[in-house]
Amino acid sequence: MTVIRLLTVFCLLTIVNSESANQRQHATVAEVEEYIEKTKQNINPRYRLHYHVAPPVGWMNDPNGFSYYKGEYHIFYQFYPYDSVWGPMHWGHSSSPDLVNWKTLPTALVPGDVQCFSGSAVVDGDTLTLMYTAHEITDSEPYYNETQFLAYSDDGINFRNYEGNPVLPAAPNGSPDFRDPKVWRHGDFWYVVIGSKTSDERGRVLLYRSSDLKDWDFLTVIGESTGDMGYMWECPDFFELNGKHILLMSPQGINPEGDRYKNTYQTGYIIGTFNYDTYEFVQEVQFQEMDYGHDFYATQTTDLDGKRYVIAWFGMWEVPHPEEADGWAGALTLIRELSLVGDRIIMKPVESMISLREEKLLDGEFQAGEVINFEKTGEIIVEGDLENKIELLLEGREGGGKVWLKWDPDVEKVIVDRGSGDIRQVEWSPLDSKSWRIFLDASSIELFCGEGEVVFSSRVFPEGGWKLTNQSPQILNITLYKLKRSVPA
Ligand code: FRU
Repeated sequence: MTVIRLLTVFCLLTIVNSESANQRQHATVAEVEEYIEKTKQNINPRYRLHYHVAPPVGWMNDPNGFSYYKGEYHIFYQFYPYDSVWGPMHWGHSSSPDLVNWKTLPTALVPGDVQCFSGSAVVDGDTLTLMYTAHEITDSEPYYNETQFLAYSDDGINFRNYEGNPVLPAAPNGSPDFRDPKVWRHGDFWYVVIGSKTSDERGRVLLYRSSDLKDWDFLTVIGESTGDMGYMWECPDFFELNGKHILLMSPQGINPEGDRYKNTYQTGYIIGTFNYDTYEFVQEVQFQEMDYGHDFYATQTTDLDGKRYVIAWFGMWEVPHPEEADGWAGALTLIRELSLVGDRIIMKPVESMISLREEKLLDGEFQAGEVINFEKTGEIIVEGDLENKIELLLEGREGGGKVWLKWDPDVEKVIVDRGSGDIRQVEWSPLDSKSWRIFLDASSIELFCGEGEVVFSSRVFPEGGWKLTNQSPQILNITLYKLKRSVPA
């Protein structure tokens, strides 16, 4: 074939591809659902999670629109159904009566001329209102622009865009990075925080106020990097917790520092006090990471009956996603309840997780060197002598998925080690309880130390079920439960 013919074929292929991508961007919800139904059958089930929300097919990243509406919790997520890598963003959707049992609902938002980037949901009268970032591809540098859109639902299933979109057309400094609105109600007003950056590339969070969710007044910059806190602050959240205010966000571009900031991007929080008359957020405790595992990003919280819950993307940018080969990628963490103790947010698995316990597979002494095999899910409560080393090896019964959970009393650190130097670790001084609570799913581990003052969330990929070995130089006390499935297969 001549070079010219090759070029022609390449150009034609490009046109066909971009046409189909374009048609897909304008697909209806019904067309997306038909595609999902058809494609679901081709998914390889080996790493599919049993009690974590994951996309039915395709790619997922951030949780969005975490809310409680007409008796059910709702969680949406950044979703690309057509491939297991990131693509034009839709909003996937699941709902739950109890934050543990989730059912999949039809895709809530599909991209048209704009993609549907992250955002939040609030209940306004009888309506579930979404506020999200419309991400638009443009012809000139920087080739994208971001504005804020509203969408409405009266049944929590079908959504329609507001005709007057965008409701927030530009950041005060004109930055094209202007995304991830998190809305809440306080007194007579709605407030929103939005992630953005300064013109010299320092991450910041903007605060606005509105009386109707449509007309917004810019109030202030409530947080901004002074230089070493990254170039962009994504997915901000702002809420009261035990009398303080928390600015929770996901900065991009913080440099690693010893044990800290080892993931591609971070998620963490600043504790302070906030005054709704002056809009002043006085920072009292510097940025701290929320979770110390390999895969935790883009958190979102919601509150009900005085409780504050958080969920995060159980994943990370720019790392391998082994389940990609199976037709899906990404998941959400289990829900954690937050409280503030001193200078630190503690995260506890939501209480209803207990309802997933099935048979007790082990209850009592687990000798040094002892091994136990179980299926793809488990909750393990571990008690040991913290004066002495603890070392638990988890791995696939048929190989893969090796992860060591360790306690090193000499440095007082908990260590999650996926082998080959892929380590996350942090100091732990137990508040009260000295036990560990470990949640294992088919391709994930979440380790809660003590009251939840130190938590690690990491994806791991065992073949077959799980095998647990006590490699500690001590007898441990272990309770192990099998956990039920609580999400669609
Ligand atoms: C965070 C993020 C958001 C954005 C979305 C796009 O992971 O980059 O800032 O809205 O993902 O999918």
